[in-house]
Amino acid sequence: MPDAHEGLRPAAQLPPVPALDEAGLRLRRLFPHYDVMEQRARQRVPRFAYDYAAGGVGHGAPNVVRNREAMDAVQILPRYGLDVSAIDTRVTLFGQDYAMPVGVAPMGNPGVVWPGTGDILARAAQKAGLAYIGSTVANESIETFGRIAPDAYWFQLYPMPAEEHRRSFDMVRRAEAVGAKVLVVTLDVPCRPKRVGDIANGLEVPFRWRARTLRDIALSPQWAIETLRRGRPAFETLRQYVPEGSSIFDIAAFGQRQMGQAITWEWIARLREIWPRAMVVKGIMHPDDAERAVEIGCDGVLVSNHGGRQFDAAPASIDVLPAIVERVGGRAKVLYDGSIRSGLDVLRALASGADFTFAARAFLWSVAAIGEAGGDHATASFREELRSSMGQAGLTTIEEAKRAPLFR
Ligand SMILES: Cc1cc2nc3c(=O)[nH]c(=O)nc-3n(C[C@H](O)[C@H](O)[C@H](O)COP(=O)(O)O)c2cc1C
Repeated sequence: MPDAHEGLRPAAQLPPVPALDEAGLRLRRLFPHYDVMEQRARQRVPRFAYDYAAGGVGHGAPNVVRNREAMDAVQILPRYGLDVSAIDTRVTLFGQDYAMPVGVAPMGNPGVVWPGTGDILARAAQKAGLAYIGSTVANESIETFGRIAPDAYWFQLYPMPAEEHRRSFDMVRRAEAVGAKVLVVTLDVPCRPKRVGDIANGLEVPFRWRARTLRDIALSPQWAIETLRRGRPAFETLRQYVPEGSSIFDIAAFGQRQMGQAITWEWIARLREIWPRAMVVKGIMHPDDAERAVEIGCDGVLVSNHGGRQFDAAPASIDVLPAIVERVGGRAKVLYDGSIRSGLDVLRALASGADFTFAARAFLWSVAAIGEAGGDHATASFREELRSSMGQAGLTTIEEAKRAPLFR
């Protein structure tokens, strides 16, 4: 088994855990947990934007609910009488050291939920030593992420098959040029899901202003002021592929026309040949698909049901993780996302076999609830919770965490 801490200093010389300043302590008191942040975000953000991020596909978002219930069901047997005075959460992945095995999952248009979210979270990840996956349909460009998060940035590609993938290849080339550490190719959007919440809220392409949208905005004054201050979010990575002067709605329509449908393993294999660094496929739920990814030389698979946003009949992603870990058998890294809301959930995923985890909404709600300081608050919360959960289970390293005994 590879040693996750190869090349790192021994525990006795661990870097000190960053202490919270007064402002950080205040946020810790006010926003101690995911639910508090989500609730506050819900109050501050227009309804269409909250629903866009919180929602799934059909009414009641059954796959989102299933992800949470399955995560809550993961139990770990605690061990006591062990020295846990020096807990080391660091991990090496694809040749890069990270402070913790949790990073920011890719999010499209997070700026509609809170202006500047992409930028705020990329900076927070860079500062805290975490990984940050920037989406093809993020509000910032590939070049911006490369500049503000040089150690943290991974590029997530939504392949665009038109014109023999001219734009897909161009984006990959841009990501390589700015030094993105990892290419993450999302496979689980072969076609557009019918997200009933967004339809009911009018958040569709082509977008049309409705009285209700304006009322929602009027009820969210802080969001409106912040949106005016930062400017309406756009899709900066895609801007160069649309005619000059295109509006955000034109770019969104372009993106929607371009994405999905004809993405096959044969094409992923071609991409594998040209991308020189680590490559991961995202949206893997079936062991046979994990096998395909390994066969064509992917360095990792990201087990994910897209946060319950694609297919209501899909199982919880934590429930399919162990079978995929078993099939991959150490030939590639197994990454995980889906309802990671706290450091405890990170530990649950590691104990279920993941090498590394990502969270989307946990980071998003922190920023939407708090604003600029929400990025650092989220990373500090994960740090504290992961350390205390590891200590409680008698674990001092991430390698040990991966062997933590599950209770079934
Ligand atoms: C608002 C939002 C936008 C998302 N956009 C993307 C995207 O552009 N690309 C992608 O691969 N996944 C996207 N996802 C899925 C996440 O990367 C991730 O798989 C999932 O949300 C993890 O679940 P969690 O939100 O419960 O942590 C998005 C998720 C949310 C909540």
